[in-house]
Amino acid sequence: MTTWNLTGTKHHVLICNGSSCMRKGGEEVTQAIRDEIKRLNLDDRIHTTRTRCNGRCKDACIVIAYPEGTWYKASTPEEGRRIISQHLAGGNTIEDAVIYEFGDEGMVAASREGFHEGISKLEKAGK
Ligand code: FES
Repeated sequence: MTTWNLTGTKHHVLICNGSSCMRKGGEEVTQAIRDEIKRLNLDDRIHTTRTRCNGRCKDACIVIAYPEGTWYKASTPEEGRRIISQHLAGGNTIEDAVIYEFGDEGMVAASREGFHEGISKLEKAGK
C-alpha cells in the first residue's frame, strides 16, 4: 500500500485495466506509459492509476489524461508512449487517437470514420 503526496502533480493518467483492455494489450500499454514517464523524468509531474472498465470496451485500450479530460484509444504501446511524450510533455493532443474530449457542453465524441458511437444513456433512460 502506498500513499503519495500528490501536491504539484500536473497530470493524472487513468489507464484501463479492465478485461477487454487487458485482452487487447492493456498491460503492455500500461508498462509503456510508465516507462515513458520514467524515461522523460516526469514521475513527479504525472501520476498514473490503473482502473477497471471505463465503459468503452470497443476502443480498448482506454487511456484518459487529466486535467484536460482527453479520452484516448491507445491501440499499441507506442501510442501509450505518445500520450506522454506528445500530449502531456509536448502539449499536443494526438488527434487520430482521441475518442472523447471535454467541451463547454460536456464530453464531445471524435468525429471520424470508424468511431463506435455506443449505447446512448439518454435513450436508455427514455429522455
Ligand atoms: S475494459 Fe477497458 S473500457 Fe472496458
